[in-house]
Amino acid sequence: MDAYAAPVAANRLRPSDRRVHDWYRFVLAFPPHLVRTYLERFGVARGQLVLDPFCGTGTTLVECRKRGIASAGVERNPIAALASAAKLNWSVDPRALVAHARAVATAAAAELAAGPGGPERQLRALPAPAAALLLKGSISPRPLHQVLVLRDALERHGRAEFHDHERLALAHVIVHEASNLRFGPEVGVGPPRADAAVVDAWMRKVRAIAADLRHLADRAAIPATVYRADARELARLLAPASVDAVITSPPYPNEKDYTRTTRLESVILGLINDRSELRALKQELLRSNTRSVYRLDRDDTLVADHPEIRRITAAIEQRRLALGKTSGFERMYARVTRLYFGGLVRHLASLWRVLRPGARLAYVVGDQASYLQVMIRTGAILADLARRIGYEVEAIDLFRTRTATATRAALREEVVVLRRPPSARPSPAGAD
Ligand SMILES: C[S@@+](CC[C@H](N)C(=O)[O-])C[C@H]1O[C@@H](n2cnc3c(N)ncnc32)[C@H](O)[C@@H]1O
Repeated sequence: MDAYAAPVAANRLRPSDRRVHDWYRFVLAFPPHLVRTYLERFGVARGQLVLDPFCGTGTTLVECRKRGIASAGVERNPIAALASAAKLNWSVDPRALVAHARAVATAAAAELAAGPGGPERQLRALPAPAAALLLKGSISPRPLHQVLVLRDALERHGRAEFHDHERLALAHVIVHEASNLRFGPEVGVGPPRADAAVVDAWMRKVRAIAADLRHLADRAAIPATVYRADARELARLLAPASVDAVITSPPYPNEKDYTRTTRLESVILGLINDRSELRALKQELLRSNTRSVYRLDRDDTLVADHPEIRRITAAIEQRRLALGKTSGFERMYARVTRLYFGGLVRHLASLWRVLRPGARLAYVVGDQASYLQVMIRTGAILADLARRIGYEVEAIDLFRTRTATATRAALREEVVVLRRPPSARPSPAGAD
């Protein structure tokens, strides 16, 4: 797959934006200032509702809450849904949170000081079906042992009101302080970390969360709901005509597996325990990589007659044959491209009903050339698909340009701005 010049730095949080956003964050989450730009442009006011149907780690929702605006998010990946939910729970008493965490940390530290237990005195490890899901070498035995002791202490001494914050702090520590993972932006394994001060790092993170909570208590009551659901099936999730604006970034057709980026913390926290659970999760995600394509997938039929998608997929197939690429994954490149755009059509159709007439939408998407370097102008195609469903296309704004390392081609990352027309119109096909 392609690698890109400098997108990670561009996604870095500004210091003034750190509060809550940095509790736990995807490496490629979009920046809060982008959300602010479109809230302002759409004139979103208090009393209105903003939806992020691919809310990831909750950037849109947190930014809305900071500005006193109600929001809803949809996210199928459990670790991202947990992150969004915890980042939107500002009702926790910060002092009580720290006091509880301190008690958990003390219990975990005592157990660690006593050394590994059991007759064999072995370090704790994950059950085999869970361990099999990890990237090889993602975490070394000693840091893993510490993480598991802390996780189990949390389970034993857990209090419901602190559970999400404490688990999210642990997820952050697992990735940034205990693991051997590196993000660049694709996840990989770096030099092994032989040991780590996991309990101390976790306590620091909980304190930082508590410090943020102290500043935010006055806005805790502004509604924000996170649904762990499939964004291609929104119609029954939200009330008709309830959403005033959408600000979101769906996956891109770039062969990136979001469940891989978040695999380590998902497995350690018990959110994904074996292959069948991983498969069930992938089946409810928009198809954007060939490792999550299934025989019964049908979203491709929704774009079967789209001229540009036909042209691109024919070009991918031609190039594949010309290059003699015959692996199962390579054979799937054309199909995953159709499934990706078909999934977006299903999403946009199911969204129609929940939008207030006149609602405005911002979709951040990137051009890609991951499939044998055939250029996919994602924003332009998404705009055309939306127009066919009945949306108005207001603009395609340039957010930034990246360079594909393989071809040096300019890849545009764009914001497709749409509107559900204000006039009453019948629902488009598939909207109900
Ligand atoms: C580009 S990321 C969004 C990042 C987000 N803007 C943030 O700030 O963290 C896309 C997200 O869409 C989620 N996703 C993919 N398919 C989905 C589906 N069918 N329903 C709900 N969420 C989905 C992925 O799990 C991922 O978290």
